[in-house]
Amino acid sequence: MLTLKKKLAEAILCTLNEKNDAHGLDAEAISGMFEYPPDKAMGDLAFPCFKLSKALRAAPPQIAAMLADSVSIPEISRTDIAGGYLNMFISDAYLAERLGKINELGEDYGRFDFGKGKRIVLDYSSPNVAKPFHIGHLGTTVIGHSLKMLHEFAGYECIGINHLGDWGTQFGKLIVAFRLWGNREAIEAGGIDELVALYVKFHEEAENDPSLNDRAREEFTKLEHFDSENIALWKWFIEISIAEYQKTYKQLGIEFDSYNGESFYSDKMPAIVNELREKELMTIDDGASIVNLDAYNMGPCLILKRDGSTLYPTRDIAAAKYRKENYDFEKCIYVTSAGQSLHFAQWFKVVELMGYEWARDLVHVPYGTVSINGEKLATRTGNVILLKDLFAMSIDKVRGIIKEKNPELAENDEVAEAVGVGAIVFHYLSNSRIKDINFVLEDALSFEGNTGPYSQYTYARTCSILEKASSEGKIGALTDEAERELIKVLARYPERILDAIGDYEPMIITRYILDVCNSFNRFYHSCKIIGADSEDVRDTRIDITSAVNSVLKTAFKLICIKPTEKI
Ligand code: ARG
Repeated sequence: MLTLKKKLAEAILCTLNEKNDAHGLDAEAISGMFEYPPDKAMGDLAFPCFKLSKALRAAPPQIAAMLADSVSIPEISRTDIAGGYLNMFISDAYLAERLGKINELGEDYGRFDFGKGKRIVLDYSSPNVAKPFHIGHLGTTVIGHSLKMLHEFAGYECIGINHLGDWGTQFGKLIVAFRLWGNREAIEAGGIDELVALYVKFHEEAENDPSLNDRAREEFTKLEHFDSENIALWKWFIEISIAEYQKTYKQLGIEFDSYNGESFYSDKMPAIVNELREKELMTIDDGASIVNLDAYNMGPCLILKRDGSTLYPTRDIAAAKYRKENYDFEKCIYVTSAGQSLHFAQWFKVVELMGYEWARDLVHVPYGTVSINGEKLATRTGNVILLKDLFAMSIDKVRGIIKEKNPELAENDEVAEAVGVGAIVFHYLSNSRIKDINFVLEDALSFEGNTGPYSQYTYARTCSILEKASSEGKIGALTDEAERELIKVLARYPERILDAIGDYEPMIITRYILDVCNSFNRFYHSCKIIGADSEDVRDTRIDITSAVNSVLKTAFKLICIKPTEKI
């Protein structure tokens, strides 16, 4: 799909080329130069000519004047030269054409196909088994899934992998704790919470009796040597944990293509260690095997502990190689907290030093920390806010609000769940991912502010209008400024998709949803839709409503929110 910016960029490039003045610029670079003027009196789009000034050896206003002709295409009704800017006003003809196009494409509007035939692997969520799934996991889970949805929207085939932390000494601890204090029935009934309680108890007891740690190590070693009883217990712990995670994933509408966690790579590690040795990348440091990264201003990447056991980076290297061989990815994207940035930088470098050119296709997408009502989250102690509790709290509050607003829907669990869970996700994804955020539940739940419930409510409003009326699909003249403003916002959707993919940033979609909702509500309050004065005007407005409806619907899905037709 050709965005308006692209089309204008090509027109400008054409003029520059005619004058032999493009100076190596391409349409992509030019299209990145457009700006949206802060005040609409200045136009809908502006092209700043300052950067070209030096290369073209002309003053910016002169360049703007020279380019004005090139953008006299049907999409632009008039131009203005102000300072060094070429300001452009979008024509009604273009808006009408866009509106028709959006409705013709429906839920395919905004889709691209540049990813066709290419594969993207996304490694996200990836909790450590038998440890609580807390609010810290919200980021990796919803950012990861949004990136998956966005790339699918661009035509890529996406493989979502839940790289479970299902291997390591914590399983030795859990096995010991289970044998000492565990109860099978209680765990079957209580699920992961019981496992977490055992894990916490283990740590408390080990404070007084450090020999427990030795026993845990022994049990883990037995597990590593495939002791059948330990293997059975370990598998069972994983099953219990996954069953619990899946409840949360279901609420979010997320499914994974693979649950191959760290343990899956156990038998693939010796080959990696050998390869590192053969390529003479590994050195011994205080008994441990490392790859020295001094030359790259990083601490060493740890490959083997003194006792010969493998480490987190070793498993990641093995996993990346396996994924390249099995999925032949165009990119492999890892979504984790920023706390792991160094880890990724280190092992990405090791892959590069191993001589794999696909090292450059490994992408780490970090995100900031979350606190709730100002409280930082403690782990280990068991004193954490679980994601499922946060969701439950939110669903409950939403149910209360709906009861007041729309008593008929009070018993509708699906709506309460979609809006309650959606509120948390929306609030989270309305911040730049890298920022540390403080979560205030009341803010997330307000039906008035820039929130999920507000957006869902707006979507439901479009559904109820469309339920009552349909249009013939002939677009008449635009008669109100609010109509124009709204279509202009809708026209930007494809561009926002590209921006979100380019920056690995779901926030761009969340903010865009708010732009659409705010603009729609202005339109709704200033224009009669069903009761419009003439049939033409009414049809046009219903068409606008239907375009808003399909854009919101697909945009919600891109950020893991389930649209509800009623609130
Ligand atoms: N299990 C890890 C954690 O909870 C996250 C794993 C991320 N993925 C990876 N391939 N390292 O911190």
